[in-house]
Amino acid sequence: MSRIAYVNGRYLPFRDAKVHIEDRGYQFADAVYEVCEVRGGRLIDERRHMARLERSLAELRIAMPMSPRALGVVLREVVAKNRIGYGLVYLQISRGVARRDLASPPQVSPTVVATARALNLTRNETLAAKGIAVVSVPDNRWGRVDIKTVGLLPNALARQTAIDRGARDAWFVDKDGIVTEAASANAWIVTPDGKLVTRHADHAILRGITRAVTLDVIKAQGLTVEERGFQLEEAYAAREAFETSATQVVMPVVSIDGHMIGDGKPGPVATALRREFHRYAETG
Ligand code: PDD
Repeated sequence: MSRIAYVNGRYLPFRDAKVHIEDRGYQFADAVYEVCEVRGGRLIDERRHMARLERSLAELRIAMPMSPRALGVVLREVVAKNRIGYGLVYLQISRGVARRDLASPPQVSPTVVATARALNLTRNETLAAKGIAVVSVPDNRWGRVDIKTVGLLPNALARQTAIDRGARDAWFVDKDGIVTEAASANAWIVTPDGKLVTRHADHAILRGITRAVTLDVIKAQGLTVEERGFQLEEAYAAREAFETSATQVVMPVVSIDGHMIGDGKPGPVATALRREFHRYAETG
């Protein structure tokens, strides 16, 4: 079955799905995106993803191209047309096509693209049962990574650095030695006395939807959580570590820069949060 993409009002086979070379997303990364998990053919946490999308667009003063409800219809259509049971749906909105100029054009309509792809559930569960290794890299991103833009070059290079070093992901560390987040996930530790810690959400991290739902699970389970920065050294000495994102849900981290975390196996807290997660997430 050929894959279908949505581009500006049309559902097209992948090979015909194109945007113009003067699209500002291509020229300047003047675009935002969202990624939603799909389970049983349904979107997970659509409402919160749409709210974050609206915020990202508002921060860049790009008009919402249609209502969140209409965008939801497009996403579900793309999921259905690609027959995705378990996987991801991507939505990308750029400011639009205009003659190359840094200044924002006054009259331009946003470019809207949506795609979906299947993931292998068994492979993800096997990975989560083993846990992943991460390495730290300097956080060299701009100061507004709370806006989910497609300007992901530092993230892409960080991920490749991790792979080149035999790890699976990279954790960004700021100039004060504080872990901000992972290349495409939020970073967490469990301290030796059992407290969960993740960096507070300001302009220096993306306010992950999976992070927000995980906070709900933690509170419902009566666990203690601190939203604050933590040093890399604190992470090396943690009882557990993990990262959260729509693509991985809760993914245990068993090594950081070659330091074994806990006993080198996924810990009970991360494992329980992963197991409970979908009871707290919204299934559309
Ligand atoms: N990434 N931090 C960064 C830098 C991210 O790119 C992401 C998500 C997250 C977690 O956000 P959420 O829980 O809403 O997925 C944190 C998506 C999944 C991606 O780029 O594929």
